[in-house]
Amino acid sequence: MAEIVIVPDRAAAGALVADEIAALIARKRDAVLGLATGSTPLPVYEALRSRLAGVDVSQVRGFALDEYVGLDPAHPESYRSVIHREVVDPLGLDPARIRVPDGTLDGIEHHGEIYEAAILEAGGVDLQILGIGTDGHIGFNEPGSSFGSRTRVKTLTQQTREDNARFFDSIDDVPMHCITQGLGTILEARHLVLLAFGEGKAEAVAGALEGPLTASLPGSAIQLHPHVTVVIDEQAASRL
Ligand code: GLP
Repeated sequence: MAEIVIVPDRAAAGALVADEIAALIARKRDAVLGLATGSTPLPVYEALRSRLAGVDVSQVRGFALDEYVGLDPAHPESYRSVIHREVVDPLGLDPARIRVPDGTLDGIEHHGEIYEAAILEAGGVDLQILGIGTDGHIGFNEPGSSFGSRTRVKTLTQQTREDNARFFDSIDDVPMHCITQGLGTILEARHLVLLAFGEGKAEAVAGALEGPLTASLPGSAIQLHPHVTVVIDEQAASRL
């Protein structure tokens, strides 16, 4: 059973998870962080700024969950750009130690296995931050993703493209494909920390925590993991 913490607001969630990450780095200087994008983890990265000020983070490693396929890596909404803007630069991490799946088309069929090998070589992820999509996806593992899946290219659902259109000029600019760590990859992280805020996530959260294990709701895979912390506000907890 996951440990569920209901917090008053996003800032409280950010503070709680940032404390956990700072404690991890204090006991393991070369901690391997699993980084998520989307709006949900931003309060964590925000709170980490003060907690990591003056801390030696030169050895910290990080692996992002996912990336759009075919989007210029320099595009401001590529997850490479987002991770650098929100995490690497403000926290002073070593850019060479932070990886994002390679979504460039050249050699795309090999990028998944190269990424898996890099995670393995780093010794695996210590703490994986997760958001959840309104359709229950984690990373970009859309409904129908196998629980054993590894890093690979997927097609984004219409729902996810609509949800993410707010980051682009129009929905037509949202890529059709992504490369994402698989559910099997994510489940190998030693500690999963899932965050969710707002009424819009309530159904996905209830399905992930209390629904049947099903590929139709990929977030339900976290029930298979022995160490999960769920940090949500009252609205996101309202269907539990
Ligand atoms: C995005 C990301 C996910 C994220 C989810 C929720 O598409 N690929 O990693 O958890 O959708 O986004 P948000 O946190 O903005 O609601």
